[in-house]
Amino acid sequence: MNCSSNCSSNQLRNFFPAKKDEIPPQHLPKMIIQKNYLANGNFIQSNTPDNFQVLSPIYINSQQVSLGEHPHLNREEVLSVLSHAQQAWKKGNSDWATSSTSERIRCVENFVKEMQLQKNLVVNTLMWEICKNYPDAEKEFDRTIDYIKETIHSLKELDRISSRFVIEQKIIGQIRRSPLGVVLCMGPFNYPLNETFTTLIPALIMGNVVIFKPAKFGVLLWNPLLPAFAKSFPPGVINVVYGEGKEVITPLMSSGGIDVLAFIGSGKVADVLKKHHPSPHRLRSVLGLEAKNAAIVLEDADIQLAVEELLLGTLSYNGQRCTAIKIIFLHRSVADKFLSQFSDKVSALKIGMPWEDGVKITPLPEDEKCLYLNGLVEDAITHGAKIITGGSHHRSLFTPTVLSPVNAKMRVWREEQFGPVVPIAIFDQIEEPINYIIESSYGQQTSIFGTNEEKIATLVDHLVNQVSRVNINSQCQRGPDSFPFTGRKDSAEGTLSVSDALRVFSIRTLVAAKENNLNKTLLSNITYNHQSKFLNTDFIF
Ligand code: G3H
Repeated sequence: MNCSSNCSSNQLRNFFPAKKDEIPPQHLPKMIIQKNYLANGNFIQSNTPDNFQVLSPIYINSQQVSLGEHPHLNREEVLSVLSHAQQAWKKGNSDWATSSTSERIRCVENFVKEMQLQKNLVVNTLMWEICKNYPDAEKEFDRTIDYIKETIHSLKELDRISSRFVIEQKIIGQIRRSPLGVVLCMGPFNYPLNETFTTLIPALIMGNVVIFKPAKFGVLLWNPLLPAFAKSFPPGVINVVYGEGKEVITPLMSSGGIDVLAFIGSGKVADVLKKHHPSPHRLRSVLGLEAKNAAIVLEDADIQLAVEELLLGTLSYNGQRCTAIKIIFLHRSVADKFLSQFSDKVSALKIGMPWEDGVKITPLPEDEKCLYLNGLVEDAITHGAKIITGGSHHRSLFTPTVLSPVNAKMRVWREEQFGPVVPIAIFDQIEEPINYIIESSYGQQTSIFGTNEEKIATLVDHLVNQVSRVNINSQCQRGPDSFPFTGRKDSAEGTLSVSDALRVFSIRTLVAAKENNLNKTLLSNITYNHQSKFLNTDFIF
């Protein structure tokens, strides 16, 4: 099958396996039936009678493949999880909350070792649940391990800097970072493992207690990691809840027992969650929300390079990345050349099942997603766009689709498609894409393609107050993970990176004393005799 983006709906049907025998044995799904949840270090059987059935976006012989089931908790169960978490925090006085940096690092190091043992099952389940192609699913796992190791390294550095006393205006101080309390972590389905860990691990390693709810897709992949959590952390420090947001998250937020909300998803949901908290001023939030990143291709751009970068930027993992480029602005003078090269590349993208070699376009996990994307395409056509390539769908597969020229009357101009549809606008004056970015509700990133220093410099100066990252001749992306990842306007609250995340989940706290003989002796003796975990001058190697 090599029709790719030009496949008809009928041809797309043939990309799905007709029988299980067509799947390589190492990639067959392992059925996971989970009836319990992790709370207070124990696996507790849920009282809710019906488990939630997990279906893959992959169909075999017209049937969605069943991957297993997980519980969905009721209100009482969720509130009892919260009370376990609160006991593990004990208003900041539990063993965990007052543990030393080294003790917490040891727990996380132990967890990484256990996690690595589960790689094959986690990666294969992730592939079946969200249809990320196998190499990218594996990359997500490895990147997560690297992220955890870099977090440990970064915390050691932070601790070394905080391990000294400072003396200012005859006051001695030791300034450290302390945990905040009970953190509710919720990641997105497109990076169910990595993005969740980018908040969960920093929250834990800083001494907080975590309640974690997996994303709507990508739930079973956590199952093999639950024993590793239970084994590596004290009871109640990490707890996992399952179910519909309304049933599970509303009671948690309304209780006022959540101190930090770490959420990656839509702004609408984030607003509802925050409103449920009885004391919003006490709630710290770190949010990764929607984006509609625009790319601008200038008249002097290196077209071949722009095509390569924009292919990755728009269609990696079917365009289901918050950092994906979701609209392209082409200068009219390069439009024909770009469109012809770009559509050739899009047409060559391999469609298929995520375990196949070289496959780039895979089934979409969200229900009714193809109908939504089709609606965007039809609306664009009504308002004057043409389909350059693509435009068909069957079940969960949608061909990569390029639309041009797009304009402000179309839904795809504003809506975050989060799928394999690439809207391309043509401009004559640079003010047109600049105004688009200024007027957008979102402000995550942008990419500019060009070779003229003066033009690039001027554009950079215009755009750095609109978005949080301007990429030059490069696609938009989150990494490297040491770089700050954030957004302006409706795109984010707070900043994540390996080192920033440690700050997000902690607060600067200091112990201070006037510089007199009594205090000098006290502080010397406390540190010399290792009597405090906070007041100490140890160097962590
Ligand atoms: O979905 C949003 C992710 O943070 C994007 O990360 O740019 O590395 O794909 P990425």
